Amino acid sequence: MSTPEVLKSAYQLLEDALLYYRGEPVGTAAAMDRELAAPNYNECFVRDFVPSALVFLYEGKVDVVRNFLRLVAELRHQQSVMAGHDRAFGLMPASFSLPARDDPSGTARADFGERAIGRVAPVDSAMWWMILLRNYVVVTGDVALAHSAEFQESMRLSLDLYLKESFETSPAMLVPDGSFMIDRRMGVSGHPLEIQALLYGMLNTAKELLLPTPDNEALLVKCKKRAQTLRSYVRIYYWLDNRRLNAIHRFRSEEFGDDIANHFNIYPETIPDWMDGWLPEKCGYLVGNLGPGRIDFRVFALGNLLSILFGLASDEQATEIMNLYETHWSDLAGVMPVKLVYPAVSGVQWSYTTGSDPKNAPWSYHNGGNWPCLLWAFVGAAVRTDRHDLGRKALDLAMNKLLDDGWPEYYDGKSGSLIGRRANLGQVWSATALILAYHFLESPDSLAVYEAINF
Ligand code: GLC
Repeated sequence: MSTPEVLKSAYQLLEDALLYYRGEPVGTAAAMDRELAAPNYNECFVRDFVPSALVFLYEGKVDVVRNFLRLVAELRHQQSVMAGHDRAFGLMPASFSLPARDDPSGTARADFGERAIGRVAPVDSAMWWMILLRNYVVVTGDVALAHSAEFQESMRLSLDLYLKESFETSPAMLVPDGSFMIDRRMGVSGHPLEIQALLYGMLNTAKELLLPTPDNEALLVKCKKRAQTLRSYVRIYYWLDNRRLNAIHRFRSEEFGDDIANHFNIYPETIPDWMDGWLPEKCGYLVGNLGPGRIDFRVFALGNLLSILFGLASDEQATEIMNLYETHWSDLAGVMPVKLVYPAVSGVQWSYTTGSDPKNAPWSYHNGGNWPCLLWAFVGAAVRTDRHDLGRKALDLAMNKLLDDGWPEYYDGKSGSLIGRRANLGQVWSATALILAYHFLESPDSLAVYEAINF
């Protein structure tokens, strides 16, 4: 298929996926497959809508994005309260469903994880909401929306919840399993990288959009300080290159006190076999998770790519992450970029990491599947690091296949050559990610949107 045909089909899918509420477009369905893998794929997911929104911003269809931001802010009030708990309005829904277009009296219904598979908490939603609000403001210049009493209140509620003192021992944020794009048990509880990158984006958004009123002063100071400490912490402790790997390999353990090297008591024996010889010079990445006695050495794509886009990784680290993609293209990108996490867990490790989840079989879905929806972040990171060559390679691979394959949600296999066994077709963020990737590389007038996703 030619590039114009692929783009036309992607735009058509986006158009077909538009959801209306009280006569206005407010979001997009996650997938347009008639045989959906789960019934809620016809809902609008907050995280899935982000690339749709960026396409709408590029196309000047800014109303949809504004309507979405308003509706989600309003829906936060639908949260139910568990007995013995207070209501924490800071959370935003994972997704929402809408009444039929010809039913003017029906109401939108938000899902805060109480209906979702596995009852997972959508911690990333409010973060994406704030980051998208900033994207909207940067592109449209409509700062009045962010400065409105309703949106200021919305941001404050989320920040109050997300910055609340808990049992932290570091500037990284502690979350339960499955609290972001990987919304299933996958060993991603604790301090997963993607959440740290999103938190960094959220804090920087707050610095720009929270009005410096006397009421906000303390909160703004907190945001600034936390962004600084989080950035240093991630750059130092999450970073893994050959030099750091050597240091970990020679770590002493059981160290006590202030002046020690092995802060988390990492046992060198936890370095997985696949790492041996895998990290060449001038390459590195941010590890997936970090905690007492624990480094998750898996490479999680979105956390690394967002860290590049948001400036959480240093410029040098960003370059080395992209070098790693170049060196290990078949492992990390394959024939359908980009692999969500490398490598897959298998055998006994699969049983205890995923809870024996057959959808997350090795090299499938969240467990080493390839997700075209990551293309926009990959190409954005490639442009930022001046690696247009890698961005083009990824885009070409997707251009050649995605439409023919019917816009699958994900691919299976080590190289990502098989359409995912349980993947939806007509997955909207697979199409919108391709549209964005194409414009970032080929359309100079996409600069405003590209800049809006960078900090
Ligand atoms: C799956 C994905 C999640 C996505 C949802 C809708 O649950 O894990 O990240 O938001 O599908 O596409």
